[in-house]
Amino acid sequence: MQAPVIYPLFSAPVYVQFGLEFNVPDSTLTELEQLPGLGPDCGLSQNIDVLDRPDLANIRKLCEQHLQLYVSNICSYDNDIRITTSWMSRNPPGVDHPPHNHPNSLFSGCLYLKSSPDNKFNLHGQNHFTKHWPFTYNIKTNNIYNSDDWWIPVDTGTLVIFPSNLQHSAGPNQLDETRIVLCFNSFIKGTLGSSGDFAARLKL
Ligand SMILES: [Fe+2]
Repeated sequence: MQAPVIYPLFSAPVYVQFGLEFNVPDSTLTELEQLPGLGPDCGLSQNIDVLDRPDLANIRKLCEQHLQLYVSNICSYDNDIRITTSWMSRNPPGVDHPPHNHPNSLFSGCLYLKSSPDNKFNLHGQNHFTKHWPFTYNIKTNNIYNSDDWWIPVDTGTLVIFPSNLQHSAGPNQLDETRIVLCFNSFIKGTLGSSGDFAARLKL
């Protein structure tokens, strides 16, 4: 007898590429770490176009290639998606990044330029079974169907791409140096809607 097939319907695909290799000189990493920042611990860079830096041209290409793979191969959309903003997120040892999402963006990415295998990227949502009917099941093993939280190990060289409205956070930085993450948002470039649906067309 064939094994039953499970369709993980109506899910939020999170794309994770481990083990990316890139050549960012230490001097550039130091500059990115020291860019003027915002927030209580200056964790986010004021610069929201860091991927425009000439010394990050290869990193931009890498991010664009994987974003394209995500949109085209995983989401199966034919839209032209462009990176709109890009910034640095920095956390000293022991410091976390609280839950949030990314407004005014469709898909977002986080590329870990300096991290530790013990660092966690957390995702927060509500699973199908308890979203509309609060009910306490006895969970044998947490899996993607029964969980409201999930985490992914994010060592140096990990890229995570996800729907921008998905709540996420970073656990306390386990590295004894500053964790350095390059983040980006994206949006559609082009026209939405069919030519026959005049009132619903949107040109971006
Ligand atoms: Fe974020």
